[in-house]
Amino acid sequence: MAVTIEAVQAALKELIDPNTRKDYLSTRSARNIRVEGADVALDIELGYPAKSQIDEIRRAVIAKLRTIPGIGNVSANVTVKILAHTVQRGLKPLPGVKNIIAVASGKGGVGKSTTAVNLALALAQEGATVGLLDADIYGPSQPQMLGLVGQRPDSQDGVSMDPLMAHGLQAMSIGFMIDIDSPMVWRGPMVTQALEQLLKQTNWQDVDYLVVDMPPGTGDTQLTLAQKVPVTGAIIVTTPQDIALIDARKGLKMFEKVGIPIIGVVENMSIHVCSNCGHEEHIFGEGGGKEMCQDYDTEFLGALPLELSIRELTDSGKPTVVGAPDSRAADIYRTIARRIAVKVAERARDMSAKFPNIVVQNT
Ligand SMILES: Nc1ncnc2c1ncn2[C@@H]1O[C@H](COP(=O)(O)OP(=O)(O)OP(=O)(O)O)[C@@H](O)[C@H]1O
Ligand SMILES: [Mg+2]
Ligand SMILES: [Zn+2]
Repeated sequence: MAVTIEAVQAALKELIDPNTRKDYLSTRSARNIRVEGADVALDIELGYPAKSQIDEIRRAVIAKLRTIPGIGNVSANVTVKILAHTVQRGLKPLPGVKNIIAVASGKGGVGKSTTAVNLALALAQEGATVGLLDADIYGPSQPQMLGLVGQRPDSQDGVSMDPLMAHGLQAMSIGFMIDIDSPMVWRGPMVTQALEQLLKQTNWQDVDYLVVDMPPGTGDTQLTLAQKVPVTGAIIVTTPQDIALIDARKGLKMFEKVGIPIIGVVENMSIHVCSNCGHEEHIFGEGGGKEMCQDYDTEFLGALPLELSIRELTDSGKPTVVGAPDSRAADIYRTIARRIAVKVAERARDMSAKFPNIVVQNT
């Protein structure tokens, strides 16, 4: 009995991808379906990095197709292709960078940098090429979190800089250029300028996701940045305290105002896990992040515990995702990172590269 392409498509329609929560036909991931007699071969092209899940997905696809009556050999080739997606109106994507993800918070000290570095590392672990830009000019923390204190970036041409490498990430921070212990006095325009330079004069190498650790707050500096940096989507980090949540709401509004879509909210220091006995306590309250997401129709991406080891590992230059990859916290970071990648993949593609600039010349 010959198998039809329709039968293959019908079977694929019934198989839901664990990350997109959709079937492979509607996400157009199933491609190149070849049927020869009873044998079927196809490609599954995922739009998000999923190194840890490729085997599982291939097995699920094959198992599903094997349920087709009369089926012979099934082969599925699962690959990943991360595309560039649209940014705010009027801005162009950065050369060498497909997608910029801003990690922001209204309030300082909520764990924005910790979250940014772990999410960046998680995306890299899943096979993406990832950059991390520390946009916190006032208090750069990525040099320490990545174990790069005291290192300086190279410049081949005296103008542009090569990012430093740590745990497979391409990293850039003002902290690589200045002495962190002698605080600089920046005026607003200087901050924006310094940041634009860091962003644009770094030789980012084929970056799928550039995670930007934004300076805290929702003042003019942050607003200018949000208007000038071509961002695919923003993530808001908050703690469950009322005061942090009020500021997080301001952050959400700021991004909405400049046309940057909110990918979702991460609640940090959500529950305290005692390192002695493991008992759990909601020190800062409960449910605030979820509530905020409901109010703004935004996705709650996940919650990280308040855990001594998160701070210790991050301080020592080996953030949880690389320092304790088998921990529950690392798992939460990876789950959130995958979700972010999926949501970025769902955004409209950036087509600016497909439409060359038209130059009108007077002759
Ligand atoms: N989930 C967590 N559990 C325990 N400690 C944490 C957690 N998240 C962050 N920390 C610690 O809290 C402190 C502040 O975190 P972090 O520097 O990431 O915050 P931030 O929002 O970037 O701060 P800033 O506004 O100063 O940039 C750091 O010492 C960090 O190690
Ligand atoms: Mg920070
Ligand atoms: Zn205890």
